[in-house]
Amino acid sequence: MLRLPGLIDPHVHMREPGATHKEDWMSGTAAALAGGFTMVLAMPNTMPPVCDAETLSLALNLAGQKAHCDYAQFVGAGEENAALLPALVSRAAGLKLYLDQTYGPLRLTDQTVWRRHFECWPNDKLLCIHAEGETLAAALKLAEEMKRPIHFCHVSQKDEILLIRAAKERGAAVTVEVTPHHLFLTETDIPAIGSGRSEVRPRLASLADQQALWDNLEAIDCFASDHAPHTLAEKDGLTPPPGFPGLETALPLYLSAIESGYLTLDQLIARCHTNPKLIFNLPDQPETWVEVDENAVWRIRGADLHSRAGWTPFEGRQVQGRVTRVVLRGREVFNDDQIMCAPGSGRDVRAIIH
Ligand code: DOR
Ligand code: ZN
Ligand code: ZN
Repeated sequence: MLRLPGLIDPHVHMREPGATHKEDWMSGTAAALAGGFTMVLAMPNTMPPVCDAETLSLALNLAGQKAHCDYAQFVGAGEENAALLPALVSRAAGLKLYLDQTYGPLRLTDQTVWRRHFECWPNDKLLCIHAEGETLAAALKLAEEMKRPIHFCHVSQKDEILLIRAAKERGAAVTVEVTPHHLFLTETDIPAIGSGRSEVRPRLASLADQQALWDNLEAIDCFASDHAPHTLAEKDGLTPPPGFPGLETALPLYLSAIESGYLTLDQLIARCHTNPKLIFNLPDQPETWVEVDENAVWRIRGADLHSRAGWTPFEGRQVQGRVTRVVLRGREVFNDDQIMCAPGSGRDVRAIIH
C-alpha cells in the first residue's frame, strides 16, 4: 500500500450554481475523493458566473451544504468588476481571467480590461489565466511589464511551455499547470474518442506538443485536472461543449506514468500537493492522506465514475494504481469505492483562520 498526502486539484468545474445536471458540489466532490483529491479549487464560469459578492456567497453556501471534500471558489474577471473584486479577496481561491473562447460568457478581449484587473487584484493573491498561443504571449508580456505575478492554466502547446520556461529563467513571477488530458492524449486520439467528445479547450494537441510538456516537466509547477463535466447527450449533440471529466482518472494516469518511468513519485507529490499548496496559499489538512493499491491493474470505465458526467475520454484505458481509502482531517471519507462522509462535511479553506 502506498500512502500519499491529500492531493489538491487547483482547477475544477463544479457546475453549481446553474448546471447541476452536469455536476453539483455533491457529485463533483465525491469524484474528487474517489480520485484521491481532498481539496479542490472551483472555477467561476457557473450560471450565473461568480463575479461579485452575491454570486460568491451563493456558490459558497451551496458548497457549504453539499461538499464532501475541502474547497475554495474562484471569482471571475468581467468587463466591469475589477474595482469591486479586491473586497472579495479573503473569501476567494483567486481571480480567474478568461482571455480566449471557452465554455461560458466570461471572455475578456480588451487589453485595457486585462490591465485593470492586473492592477486591482492584490499582487500577493493569485491571478489565473486561460489564454492560448498569441493571447498567452500577450498576457505574459503585459504581466512582466507590470511586474504582476500570474498563473497560467492548462498550458498545452510546445511554443507556450517554452515561452513560459524562458520567462521563468529570466525571473518572471509566473507559474503554470498542465492537465492529464494534454499529458496523456493527443489529436491522434480524436478518431477513437469521437469528434464531439474530444472537444476541449485548449484542444488536444500534437504529439510534439505532448512531448514538449514531458520534456519540460521541471518548468511545470502543478498538475490540474480541469475537471469539466458535460453529459454524454451534450457531448454527442449538435453543439458539443468543450470539456472532460478528469478528477477520477488523473491519479491512476500519473501512477501509471510512474510505473512506465515518465514520472517519479516525488515529482507527482510536488505537482499535486506541495506546489499547489504553496502557490495558492492553502492551509494544511492535518491527519489527511490517500491510500493507494499501487499494484491494482484496472480499466477506466465512464460508467463507474462518481461524477455525473458518466463518461471519460480515457474509456477502456488500462491503468495501474487505485485509490482504496481516503482519510480527511482524521475521518475516513472514502473506502472501497464508497463515499463515507456526509454532504457538507467539506470545509471552505478560505474560511479557516491560520
Ligand atoms: O474545455 C474546457 N471546458 N475548457 C475550459 O476552459 C472550460 C471548460 C468548461 O467549463 O467546460
Ligand atoms: Zn480554461
Ligand atoms: Zn477550466
